[in-house]
Amino acid sequence: MATTNISMFILPIVLLIWVSPAVVSDKCSPHEKKALLQIKQELGNPAMLSSWNASTDCCTWDTFRIECSNTKPYHVSQLDLHGLDLPGPTKIPPSIFNLVDLDELFLFEMPNLTGPIPPQISNLKKLTILYIFSTSVSGPIPESLAQIKTLFSINLSGNNLSGTLPPSLSSLPTISVIFLDSNQISGPIPESYGSFVSKNLVTLALSHNKLSGKIPASLKGLNVDLLDLSWNKLEGDGSVLFGAEKKTEDIRLAGNMFSFDIGKVEFGRNISRLNLKHNRIYGQLPQGLTKLQHLTRLNVSYNQLCGPIPQGGRLQGYFPIDASSFSHNKCLCDPPLPPCK
Ligand SMILES: *[C@@H]1O[C@H](CO)[C@@H](O)[C@H](O)[C@H]1NC(C)=O
Ligand SMILES: *[C@@H]1O[C@H](CO)[C@@H](O)[C@H](O)[C@H]1NC(C)=O
Ligand SMILES: *[C@@H]1O[C@H](CO)[C@@H](O)[C@H](O)[C@H]1NC(C)=O
Ligand SMILES: *[C@@H]1O[C@H](CO)[C@@H](O)[C@H](O)[C@H]1NC(C)=O
Ligand SMILES: *[C@@H]1O[C@H](CO)[C@@H](O)[C@H](O)[C@H]1NC(C)=O
Ligand SMILES: *[C@@H]1O[C@H](CO)[C@@H](O)[C@H](O)[C@H]1NC(C)=O
Repeated sequence: MATTNISMFILPIVLLIWVSPAVVSDKCSPHEKKALLQIKQELGNPAMLSSWNASTDCCTWDTFRIECSNTKPYHVSQLDLHGLDLPGPTKIPPSIFNLVDLDELFLFEMPNLTGPIPPQISNLKKLTILYIFSTSVSGPIPESLAQIKTLFSINLSGNNLSGTLPPSLSSLPTISVIFLDSNQISGPIPESYGSFVSKNLVTLALSHNKLSGKIPASLKGLNVDLLDLSWNKLEGDGSVLFGAEKKTEDIRLAGNMFSFDIGKVEFGRNISRLNLKHNRIYGQLPQGLTKLQHLTRLNVSYNQLCGPIPQGGRLQGYFPIDASSFSHNKCLCDPPLPPCK
């Protein structure tokens, strides 16, 4: 009687363990496994994902592309599909947005990845790193990105994104790095980009787009290590981007229509790269340029500058700064250009 009772009690447990050994020991939760298998299917079952198999723990499938957290509660923390061969145009697999515990998402160097970045991206409420670059994704940058309060680094460079810059990105509390360069983004730079909530913003790269309009005066408040606005159609008073108080090391404004008196600009002392070529900047180069002890690159060619080049600091005889750094202006003179008359 007693024996029967015990076996009646144990048998179902033994059966349960035996029937689904994976479920008991899996780090991967059933909903994550389901989402990953759907992703595989949505990508057209690429050969590179042949190890993604329903009968095993997804945390063991492919440690190159799937990373799981080390501590409980276990979750899929990183999905990296970069360089995956897609046989033809493929949309961002919608089941990615069911992996709600992802910390890092990498979709880059996938030329056949097409279609928009769906607003459902904001389902990924814990995302810190979002890299979707060197793909063919198109359409606008979803406004909903600003709802992912954990974002630290965004790289959406080298896609076919269009529309305008979402003003709300400035509200991301811990954003540090923003690359949106080399797309088809148009319209103005939002005023809000002069007052990022994050104290840690170090990079803002918006180059090679179709941005236009006057630079907002509010950008006086933008203070980053790297600011790249080059090769757009921006106009107005770019002098607000400078200031003695700024920490900026690398500032690139080349290939726009900025128009301001460079003589009134105060340069931050940490500037090492200054690229202002191909604009409509006028006036006389300020003496402050000779005080820049870290200057390694300088190009102010193709503007409307005039008068003597200040002598000293790194403006003369500091390779690769040479005559070509100053050429094609209205009437600049003195070394490394010919002497003023
Ligand atoms: C999954 O793995 C099992 C055991 O390793 C194997 O028998 C099965 O064929 C695999 N299924 C697929 C779809 O690859
Ligand atoms: C992209 O898809 C095209 C077909 O549309 C195919 O010819 C090409 O090889 C694919 N490229 C890659 C990198 O998979
Ligand atoms: C961002 O993407 C570009 C490709 O367009 C790449 O060159 C660059 O290294 C990336 N930057 C980071 C920080 O990932
Ligand atoms: C990029 O989008 C434009 C329309 O906005 C389209 O004409 C062009 O073919 C697209 N290019 C690529 C590489 O997808
Ligand atoms: C210049 O760089 C130094 C060292 O990285 C840093 O401590 C300092 O705050 C920077 N200067 C300004 C004006 O931010
Ligand atoms: C400055 O830019 C001009 C125009 O693009 C280029 O020809 C020249 O080589 C550049 N010089 C330096 C030192 O960067």
